[in-house]
Order: sequence, then structure tokens, then C-alpha cells
Amino acid sequence: MIVKTCELKFVCGLNSKIPITNKKEFVLVGRSNVGKSSFINTLCNRKNYARTSNVPGKTKTINYYYINNNFFIVDLPGYGFAKTSLSEQENWANFINKYFKTSKNIEEIIMLLDIRHKPSDKDISMYDWIVNNTGYEPILILTKLDKVKKNDVANHIKIIKDTLMCSEECDIITFSSITKNGVDDFKKILDKVLD
Ligand code: GTP
Ligand code: MG
Repeated sequence: MIVKTCELKFVCGLNSKIPITNKKEFVLVGRSNVGKSSFINTLCNRKNYARTSNVPGKTKTINYYYINNNFFIVDLPGYGFAKTSLSEQENWANFINKYFKTSKNIEEIIMLLDIRHKPSDKDISMYDWIVNNTGYEPILILTKLDKVKKNDVANHIKIIKDTLMCSEECDIITFSSITKNGVDDFKKILDKVLD
């Protein structure tokens, strides 16, 4: 796949209606700061189209990126940002729940995890919630690959798989927005699904 066009089509705040897109949606979930916006920028070959930041909790809306006039990458707000108040976290959890219930065109759910870290309790609950409530097993994108030594990669993958208790068939892609490693593997999945 060559990404020719990428357009931010819908931005949903807490009180927005969830749009009916009639196109396939690939949903990105992951904790704040894991690299969701950077992943979109890499995929679209843009520098800072999806806004990235060192300040966690940057993306506070559901952003719909329309790619090649064909499908959507849906960027959900990151969870687990410590400075977010409990009531705001709850509001967002409800809204995300609504997104999963309302959206009829979800094709794949993509969970991003930092390859360096064992999944947190919040990652585990998100993963389990997705498996139990949506019927999808998320595709795992392990971000920040450039930050681990080559020799340690397999061990990090094993720790993540074991902690989440992934199935044997689980799709895992190691990824770096710095080296662009892994973006072609993800494009292959898109090609397969969109064919
Ligand atoms: P929220 O919008 O807060 O949910 O965060 P996000 O998941 O969109 O993360 P974002 O893409 O903004 O990245 C957070 C920080 O991690 C930024 O400083 C990025 O430059 C950095 N980052 C993201 N991906 C990578 C990567 O693959 N390697 C390295 N070294 N840094 C990365
Ligand atoms: Mg973001």
C-alpha cells in the first residue's frame, strides 16, 4: 500500500456524536505517550500531522484520519494519564465504550504498547476488555523499538505476550517511528484486509 492522502476528517469531543463512516475503521488504542500519533504520522509519511508531544494526554479527542479516500484510522485518546481526574477518566471510558458500541465498521483493533515495558494493569484491563467485549483480538504494535537492544527484543516480546496471555495466532509488529521499522508490516495487514 502507498498512502497517497491522509485527511483529518472528524474530531469528536466528549459530547460529540459518533460519526457513521460507512468505511472500514482501524482503531488505535494505547496508553498516553505510547506513540499513537507518531504511528499515524509514520504511516502517512507526515512530520507532525497527528500532533505528538512529550506532554502525555495530548490527544483528547477521537480523531478520524481518512486514508486514500478509502478507510479510516481512528485515534482514541490515550488512557492511564495520571494527571487526568477520575471523573474525566470515567467520562472518557464511557465515551470510548460508546464508540465501540456505535461503530459498525470496525475492521481491526490495534493496541500499541511500549516494547520496553511489561504491560501495566491498565494495559491488561484494556486488552481483556477488548477481547471480552468486542470479540476482536487486538493486533499488537510494539513501539519505540529503537530504544531496545537487538538482542533483547525477543525477550521483551515474550514478556508482553505472556503478560497479556495472547493467543498463539496473535499478530505482533515491532515498530519505531524513528527508524520506520514495522510500518511495512502494518501496511501488509491493511492490504490483506482491504483487498
Ligand atoms: P497521547 O496523544 O498523549 O495519547 O500520546 P500518543 O500515544 O499519541 O504519543 P505520541 O505519538 O505523541 O508520542 C509520545 C512521545 O514518544 C513523543 O515524544 C514521541 O516523539 C515519542 N515517540 C513515539 N514513538 C516513538 C518511537 O518509535 N521511538 C522513539 N524513540 N520515540 C517515540
Ligand atoms: Mg496522540
